[in-house]
Amino acid sequence: MESDFPDSASDDGGFDLRQEIARSAFADMCHDWERNQKYDRALQLTIGRIHAAGREAHVLDIGTGSGLLSMMAIRAGADSVVACEAFRPMADCAEKVIAANGMQDRIRLIKKRSTKLTVGPGRDMERRANVLVTELFDTELIGEGALATYRHALEHLLTDDLVAIPHKATVYAQVVECPLALSWQLLKTLSNADGDILLRVPPEVIACRGTSAVFDIQLSQLPTSSFNVVTEPIPVFTFNWSKRHELINNRFAKNVCQARTSGFPQAVFMWWDLTMDLEGDVLLSCAPYWAHPDQKKLMDQQQQQLQHQQQTKRRLPEGNLIPWRDHWMQAIYFLPPLKLPLQRGQEFVLQSYHDEYSLWFGLEADQQVETSPVDAPHCSCGWHIAQSRSRIGQMNDSLRNKRYLNFFERVFSSDTVLLVLSEGSLLGLAAARMGVKKVLLYEPNAVSRRCMETFVEHNSVPNVRFLPAADALEPEEAATVTHVFAEPHFPSAILPWDNLHYGDLLKNLRTLLPRTVTVIPASATLYALPVEFLDLQKINAPLGSCERFDLSPMDRLIEQHSAYADSPVEAQPLWEYPAYPLAGTIRLMEIDFVDGFEQTKLERGELVVVEPERLNGIAVWIDWHLDGGHSPKTTISSGPLVPVEEASDEPVRWNMNWRQGVHLLRKHPNRKTIIPWTVKFNPTMNNVYFQFDYDE
Ligand SMILES: C[S@@+](CC[C@H](N)C(=O)[O-])C[C@H]1O[C@@H](n2cnc3c(N)ncnc32)[C@H](O)[C@@H]1O
Repeated sequence: MESDFPDSASDDGGFDLRQEIARSAFADMCHDWERNQKYDRALQLTIGRIHAAGREAHVLDIGTGSGLLSMMAIRAGADSVVACEAFRPMADCAEKVIAANGMQDRIRLIKKRSTKLTVGPGRDMERRANVLVTELFDTELIGEGALATYRHALEHLLTDDLVAIPHKATVYAQVVECPLALSWQLLKTLSNADGDILLRVPPEVIACRGTSAVFDIQLSQLPTSSFNVVTEPIPVFTFNWSKRHELINNRFAKNVCQARTSGFPQAVFMWWDLTMDLEGDVLLSCAPYWAHPDQKKLMDQQQQQLQHQQQTKRRLPEGNLIPWRDHWMQAIYFLPPLKLPLQRGQEFVLQSYHDEYSLWFGLEADQQVETSPVDAPHCSCGWHIAQSRSRIGQMNDSLRNKRYLNFFERVFSSDTVLLVLSEGSLLGLAAARMGVKKVLLYEPNAVSRRCMETFVEHNSVPNVRFLPAADALEPEEAATVTHVFAEPHFPSAILPWDNLHYGDLLKNLRTLLPRTVTVIPASATLYALPVEFLDLQKINAPLGSCERFDLSPMDRLIEQHSAYADSPVEAQPLWEYPAYPLAGTIRLMEIDFVDGFEQTKLERGELVVVEPERLNGIAVWIDWHLDGGHSPKTTISSGPLVPVEEASDEPVRWNMNWRQGVHLLRKHPNRKTIIPWTVKFNPTMNNVYFQFDYDE
C-alpha cells in the first residue's frame, strides 16, 4: 500500500521519532471523550459570548496536534483560526486531518513553535488573537513547559482582552500515610525468616528524597486499604492562564491543615482540574474517584442501570466509573519524614512549591515554627537513579525476599562460592551476610556499584568482590564457583523476560564454571492470559472519527510508525488497568538455564476464549523457578498474585511491583474462540517474539 506520509521519521534519525509518534499519547488524548467534549463546549460558550457582545472571535490554537481544537473552533463560529504545531510529523498530520474535514481554507496552519510566530499583515498571524485554546498539560500540569509558552503568547500573540480556554487550572494536594507508596521509594531493612537483620539501610540512603521525575499513577486503582488520608484535598495553586504576571516560574504556598487521623504523613497525592470557560460553567477534573465531582452521580447511574438490565451489565469497579484517561493521571510526591507522628486534630503546615516544570511538597508539624524552604528533591544516594520505582518495590517485597532467603538457607553453606548475575542485587549481599565463603557480584554499572558498596560498607559485609564486567572473572576464580544466582534483574530490562539476559551471561561464562555448579533460578516459564481490559485497550485503538471529525489520517500516521517501532507486546503495570480473565492461564514456554539455553525455541498452541468478542488484550509474564520445579514456595512470579484458572467476573489481581507484558488487539471485536499462538525465543538476540493469530 502507498504510504500517505513521507517518511519524516527518517529525516530525524528514525527510530526514536517513530517511537515517539507511536507511543505518544495522541491517540489516547483523542479517545478522551470527556476532555474533547469539554473543550468543544467551552469553545462554543466562549465564541458565542464574544459574538453576543458584538465582537469578532479570532482564535489561536497552540499545539494543535491533530487539529481537533481548531476544527472545533471553526464549528463554534470563530471568525478566524490560526493553528501552530512544533512537532513536524504531527503538523503534517494536522494538515491532512484538516483537509479531510474540508477546513483547509478556514484554518491557517503554521508548522512552527508558538514562540516563533510572527504577527502583522501578511505574517503568520494577521492580527493578535482574542481567544487562546491550548492543551499543553501533562500529569504534573506544567511539565511540558506550559508556563513559558503562555507567558510568551500573552505578551506577543494575544490581545489584552483575550479569553483563554481553559481559563484556569487548580492543583490539589491530599496528604496521606501510604506505606505501599513509600515501599516504591525507600529501601527497607532486609531480615531473614527468624527476624535477624541481614542488611540495614545506610543513613544517606534513608535521607535521600528520590528523584524529581514525576511519579505518575492511576490513583483510583490504589487499594483504599493501602492508605489513610490525613487531610481533605487542598487547593494549593491556581494558574490563571490569561494573567501573564501570575504565571511565574517559582512559587511557594503554605496551607494550615488539620490532621484527620493520627499517623505519619508520608506523601501527597496530587491532581488538578481545569475550569474551561471564564464563567466557570465547564469543569474538567483529573481527581481520583473518591474526590471526583461526578462520582456520586455516576454511582447512582450505575445502580439504576444495573437494576434495569441485571443480566447484561457487569458492575464496574468503583475506580472505573469516572472518565478514564492515561495521558493525564495523578501523581505521588514524597514528604520529608517527620520524627513524631501527627495527632488526630493537630494543626500543621503543608508547604507547596513549583518551578517552571515541577511540583514538590514539604510539611512543618509545628505551625509556630518559621518554615525553612524545602528544595526540590534530587537523588543523592544513587538508588533512585540506578533502579526504577517498581524495582525498589520488588526489593522491599517481604514475601519475595522470604522465598529467596529460605531457599538460600537450604542450599548455601560456608563452602559456597556464589556468582551473582544481576545488577543491584541486595540478595547477593544478604547471602554474604548469611556466611557463604565468597560472593562475586557482576555489577557493570558504576552508579549501581557505588550504591551496593554503600551497603557493603555500612553492614561490614564480608567476602564480597564486584566484577565490573563478566570477563573480569578470572578462570581460576571461576573454577571455584559452586552456585550461580540471579534474581534476575537488570535495569535495562523493560519487559519482565528481558531479564533472560541472565541466561546469556551464564552461557558465556559456562566454559569457565565447574560442570557441577548449581544454577539459581534453574528455569523460567512464560505465561499468557487472555483478558478484557476495561480501558487500557484505548491507548492502541484506532480513532476513526472524534467529535464528528474524521481523524483517520492520524490513525494512519500512528499505524505506520507503530509498524516500525512498536513491539506487539509492551510493558504496563497491569494492576493500574483492571481486566477480567476470559480463560485460565496458558503456559507458553519453559526456558531451561541448566541445559540447552543456547538453542532457539519455538512453541505453538491455542488459546480458547469464552466470549471472544470481549477479548481485547493478552497479558504475558514470566515466572522464575529457583530449583527448576513449579512449587509456589520456590517460584518468583511477575504475574497474578493468585493463579487464574478460569474466566471470571473478578478482575485479575496483579503483582504491583512488576510491569507485565501486554499485547493489545488492534482489531476489535474479536470473533475467534480459538486463537493460535506462536512464541519464539532467540537466545542470541535475547529476544522473545509473540504472535497471536486472531485474524479471521
Ligand atoms: C497535548 S498535545 C494536544 C494536541 C491537540 N491540541 C489536542 O488537544 O488534541 C500538545 C501538542 O502541542 C505541541 N506543542 C507544545 N508546545 C508547543 C508550542 N509552544 N508551540 C507549538 N506546538 C507546541 C506538541 O508538539 C503537541 O503536539
